[in-house]
Amino acid sequence: MDRLSVEKAALVYFSPHGATKKAAETVAGGIRSAGLHCDYFDASRFIKKGNASEFHVQLSYYKMIVIGTPVYSGHVPEVFRDLLEKIPSLVENQTAAFITAYGGINSGTALYELASIFSRKNYRLLGGIKVAAEHCLMFQSKDPINSGRPGNEDIQPLVAFGKCLVERLTSRERIGYQPRDFMDKSLIRRMTGPLQGAMSGARSMLPAINWDEGLCTRCGDCVSVCPTGNILFDDKLRFFDRCIHCFACVRFCPERSLTAPLDKGEELLLRMRNKLAKHEKGDTVQVV
Ligand SMILES: Cc1cc2nc3c(=O)[nH]c(=O)nc-3n(C[C@H](O)[C@H](O)[C@H](O)COP(=O)(O)O)c2cc1C
Ligand code: SF4
Ligand code: SF4
Repeated sequence: MDRLSVEKAALVYFSPHGATKKAAETVAGGIRSAGLHCDYFDASRFIKKGNASEFHVQLSYYKMIVIGTPVYSGHVPEVFRDLLEKIPSLVENQTAAFITAYGGINSGTALYELASIFSRKNYRLLGGIKVAAEHCLMFQSKDPINSGRPGNEDIQPLVAFGKCLVERLTSRERIGYQPRDFMDKSLIRRMTGPLQGAMSGARSMLPAINWDEGLCTRCGDCVSVCPTGNILFDDKLRFFDRCIHCFACVRFCPERSLTAPLDKGEELLLRMRNKLAKHEKGDTVQVV
């Protein structure tokens, strides 16, 4: 029998705030209803341990790999991209599909980037969906962009995507797509110009994180939620240089010992959303 079980799909997600994970789990519902078993892999576990070889050994047993990423400044976050780049090229017939969760402003080139990585490694590309998610940098806001999403309105397209992937996987025709099919052309034209520069610039303007030692109970939650292993506790709390500015440590600190004045950037995010609204509807769309 084929070493790669046709009955199994791996869902790999990188999800500091949980929206990408939620989207991946909903897609898995569609995959399961079409008859395939799903296993989950939290990529931050491998990023923290710096253990890319364990990661790709585990993935080598799946016929279909579904990769879920958040969109950061229009791209796949670098730490996750680096982990994926380390997956070796294929010798067997495996397939890949992609989910990008974006905060309603700009889905950018993230789907295309994932498709390109896996195409270079000889995977057959089965499909891609971009998912409307609450903007995670607005978790302190009363009215974040795409509040509560992915929500009820996203379930149907996500489940349909999962079913569609299984149909493509098991079809007698050998269905496969090219990286260019994963590109949102109308948007890309505008995002490769000065606006893309402005998006990257906006990221460098993100505030520093403050630690109030007096409020800290040393519960360790910040160390657990940090997706890159950037926080260490010895006598004090220390940050290394692997911060991706996700602010999950601030969000999930139960004592508000960690803080960051993200409210100052909220107006800029809303302005960017309004500027791009005619090109990017901020919705969930199966691109391929
Ligand atoms: C550093 C950073 C950059 C981001 N850049 C974008 C962006 O370019 N466009 C967008 O629509 N959302 C952007 N977002 C929002 C996230 O893509 C969105 O909230 C996503 O759902 C987060 O996924 P998670 O909940 O799985 O962590 C950014 C968030 C962060 C932290
Ligand atoms: S999550 Fe907050 S309270 Fe807990 S160890 Fe980290 S900083 Fe301290
Ligand atoms: S230190 Fe905080 S903001 Fe930086 S990567 Fe870790 S969780 Fe994200």
